[in-house]
Amino acid sequence: MDVIHVPVMLEEVLAALELKSSGIYIDATLGLGGHAEGILQCAQGCTLIGIDRDENAIEIARERLKGFEKVHLIKNRFSNMKDVVNSLGYEKVNGIILDAGVSTLHLKAEGRGFSFMRDEPLDMRMDQSSDLTAEKVVNSYKEKDLADIIYQYGEERYSRRIAKSIVFARRKNRITSCKELATIIEKAVGRRGRIHPATRSFQALRIKVNSELDELSKAVDSGAELLEEKGRFCVLSYHSLEDRIVKNAFRKLAKEGLFRIITKKPIVPEREEQKLNPSSRSAKLRVAEKI
Ligand SMILES: C[S@@+](CC[C@H](N)C(=O)[O-])C[C@H]1O[C@@H](n2cnc3c(N)ncnc32)[C@H](O)[C@@H]1O
Repeated sequence: MDVIHVPVMLEEVLAALELKSSGIYIDATLGLGGHAEGILQCAQGCTLIGIDRDENAIEIARERLKGFEKVHLIKNRFSNMKDVVNSLGYEKVNGIILDAGVSTLHLKAEGRGFSFMRDEPLDMRMDQSSDLTAEKVVNSYKEKDLADIIYQYGEERYSRRIAKSIVFARRKNRITSCKELATIIEKAVGRRGRIHPATRSFQALRIKVNSELDELSKAVDSGAELLEEKGRFCVLSYHSLEDRIVKNAFRKLAKEGLFRIITKKPIVPEREEQKLNPSSRSAKLRVAEKI
């Protein structure tokens, strides 16, 4: 299947990285290789280390980037980026881009279980070799734990009602498909406005299954250690929970005298980009520089 993921705020990211052809750069969320390709084209001759926990994404990116030299693509979690870089024989890098969240591959490819629009198994694992699936969470977690996950990671005000309906429904039959879960949620809270009522719960489950927030805070610390003086750290986040983690982590590192914050306020996509690529609409770019 042909999936295209349009890299978000590509020009802004390339400018913020202050690329040079002798530099070593990490794309901590390689995805389908959009930002990585931009870096390699812009800083010809540079070294690129691309990391993704999704084997399929790495394969697609490998094909896309095969014309470039000095490219290392590694399947791993970005919280391990320091180990990845060290295992390749590098100590320091000149820039890092981390583009959090899911890619088009997750949402559009069949059978990944991220979308409430599709009738497919409730999976949501970015790394398909990991153990925890959304189906496991939905069918085995206690009602209170489900409610907490949906509240904390989905910022869903009807979390208790939704958790109760899930537990009620699973007593009859195991909940196995995305559509089934979306219907249970819709019945529990009704439809209001344009946004599907399952949106926040699906976000919450995805965050839980992939430990996304924990990964993100560890990645900022790991990346901070790796950066060379004047090296730039660019993070694209897509919802308030992610953005808060990045903002606070950058501030803490700035207080400790390790970082200079470049973006006092996050950069958001131009209106034109938001129109052309609706999935960029919620993006926020924060940039910090190692001192
Ligand atoms: C928004 S996409 C990146 C898209 C990419 N910038 C591009 O232009 O094609 C995010 C990617 O990060 C990966 N990812 C998310 N969390 C990760 C983690 N903790 N460790 C490694 N990769 C992760 C996902 O598998 C996904 O492929």
